[in-house]
Amino acid sequence: MIVLDKENNILTLHTKNTTYQMKADQYRVLTHTYYGPRVDGCDLSYLVRYADRACAPNPDEAGEDRTYSLNTIPQEYSTCGVGDYRLPSIELELPSGSRSADLRFTGCEVRRGKYALEGLPAFRGTGEDAQTLVIRLEDAAAQVEVELYYGVFEEYDLITRAARVINRGTEPVRLCQCASLCLDFPGADLDLVTFDGCHLMERAPHRAPLRPGVQGVGSTRGTSSHQHNPFVILCGRSADEDHGLCYGASLLYSGSFQALAEVSQYDSTRLVMGVNPWHFCWTLAPGQAFTAPEAALVCSPRGLGEMSRQFHRAIRAHLIQDPLEGRRRPVLINNWEATYFDFDAGKLVDFAKAAAPLGVELLVMDDGWFGKRDNDCGGLGDWYVNTGKLPGGLEALVPKIQELGMSFGIWIEPEMVNEDSALYREHSDWAFHIPGRPPVRGRSQLVLDFSREEVRRHIYGQIKSVLSSADVSYVKWDMNRSLSNVWSAALPPERQGEVYHRYVLGVYEMLDQLRRDFPHILIEGCAGGGGRFDAGMLYYTPQIWCSDNTDAIDRLRIQYGTSFCYPVSSMGAHVSAVPNEANGRCTSIQTRGVAAMAGTFGYEMDPGKTTPEEKEVIRAQTAFFKEHYDLIQRGDYYRLTDPFQNGPYTAWEQVSPDRREALVSLVTTALHAAPSFQTLKLKGLDPGLTYQINGGDTFPGSALMEAGYPLPLFHGDYQSMQLYCRAI
Ligand code: GLA
Repeated sequence: MIVLDKENNILTLHTKNTTYQMKADQYRVLTHTYYGPRVDGCDLSYLVRYADRACAPNPDEAGEDRTYSLNTIPQEYSTCGVGDYRLPSIELELPSGSRSADLRFTGCEVRRGKYALEGLPAFRGTGEDAQTLVIRLEDAAAQVEVELYYGVFEEYDLITRAARVINRGTEPVRLCQCASLCLDFPGADLDLVTFDGCHLMERAPHRAPLRPGVQGVGSTRGTSSHQHNPFVILCGRSADEDHGLCYGASLLYSGSFQALAEVSQYDSTRLVMGVNPWHFCWTLAPGQAFTAPEAALVCSPRGLGEMSRQFHRAIRAHLIQDPLEGRRRPVLINNWEATYFDFDAGKLVDFAKAAAPLGVELLVMDDGWFGKRDNDCGGLGDWYVNTGKLPGGLEALVPKIQELGMSFGIWIEPEMVNEDSALYREHSDWAFHIPGRPPVRGRSQLVLDFSREEVRRHIYGQIKSVLSSADVSYVKWDMNRSLSNVWSAALPPERQGEVYHRYVLGVYEMLDQLRRDFPHILIEGCAGGGGRFDAGMLYYTPQIWCSDNTDAIDRLRIQYGTSFCYPVSSMGAHVSAVPNEANGRCTSIQTRGVAAMAGTFGYEMDPGKTTPEEKEVIRAQTAFFKEHYDLIQRGDYYRLTDPFQNGPYTAWEQVSPDRREALVSLVTTALHAAPSFQTLKLKGLDPGLTYQINGGDTFPGSALMEAGYPLPLFHGDYQSMQLYCRAI
């Protein structure tokens, strides 16, 4: 609910459990007065305190009032160069060459439903479930207007934000920074949690108390990156899964980003998040506008677990656009780890023959089916079927797969080119390159300049004709290197600062086109595993390959970290062969199945090479997964343990919204002789109901949650267990 007190310029956003308030003060500066647990019917501007502080400049309007300084008051969208020395949200370079921004409130309006952003991903909402607030600010001297957008989803305690900057003047203005989110907190007694890692070990949570000065994460790779995720949390020092005040901030952006928190000299905190200002500068001609990507906030007064569940619910219901909406996604098998580039139509048909009787429903043909692609040194850019490997093309192959009762999916990597390709020989200038510098390769490939329309059109045309040649129901869109040598032949020197962002807009445009032309196709995002796992991609690709690391035990950590923002249904997870290709570890097929069920669930191994016993297990796994699909993919997710604590086991739980069903999954991770007895406390059940576990023993919900479930003594490495709990 949005409440406007127009007389006093107080703007209040209420969700079910939280309140967010702003007030335009006597000088029309938009102050941020409060964000936290719900507070009703109150002007919270008493929280904005004034004092005559040294080294704090006073704006002209304040006259002799030295207690009024932009440097100390909490601002809704921070400015720069005019007296606030903390992190700016916006920086303008004016025709004079001066760099500053100074904003004053001019008005606001409430709209039904949720705003959309042209060319950018955004949460969707109708008049039934969302409201929009648009606030207008102006920089009178610069003749620049800023519109701040707020989407309010009461049910999920979710508030989205975006900003649009419009040049209302008669000369061009350069935008050097334009954040999506600025959030000022009155105190600094908070922890910052970031999700960091590398290829094969993505999104490990790192939590540290805020300290004076600037701290944070970002990416300069042109992708959101394996190294840092565009999702951060600020939470109370003692906040845990079930208690304490937590603020999660997720940026819907898949390019270079920045998320910084600054603790000021007087112990206030500012969080600024948005497109990374590094190598960013956008020229706005008179009348033109720039839109900053959307950021989504969830404030949970009841711990990190509830914060995550609210993100999961909102992402599933209002961000992800699932072509199979309401229906079950298929259990897939992908040939990559089993064959790499060494496959042909015969081998794929054999895969399908062996996999279909096991309950697998979709065969995904990974890298190597196109151009001259027998290893990762050539072929990218040539998106036509290699008929040496697939005689007769997809037209011949796909019906054979379908006859076996399976649907068909395909891998593509549209943003890339190898020098050894027909495309590069014809259009070498389409790859990013800095004039005068030698090319810089990553996985022997170069990045295509997707900021250019003709490049996108050419690639899209090729891909469209492949996808139109047969009944393809799934696409894995991969992206296997970070950007470098970024310079576009299509833009003049003074506009090269636009290229990184235009690249991302180009990727979004093509994904959007793909979705519109093939609305039935399920797209899985991928970037060398989880190098572009962000809420921006989830708008176009309902699931994203979580990591190239398919080891069940490492995955416990990766999926745990990923779960802080992203739902189970978004995390691509497969059972692969052992020893695992990433770390050589051996785990049982049961344990690999349990770990993969914390994600989308599928296989990535040669089904023909499995033993009869393994086949039996796979059959049981696919049947179990299908039977409990709703619970696993759409249930409320509870992290029961933290795998980074190196405890004896890792456990998590999915609970149906009506709390009548739950699935507890557990994998042991540390083994010792003479173990102590372990009792696992469940969460989210109805204390008043009695639950039957795996069709056997019964326990009251209160006992399972307060006293716990007695775990057996495990024997042997990496054991696993699933407890299906049903209310009786
Ligand atoms: C990336 C992906 C893998 C696989 C290969 C193919 O590494 O993450 O799953 O598709 O590319 O080259």
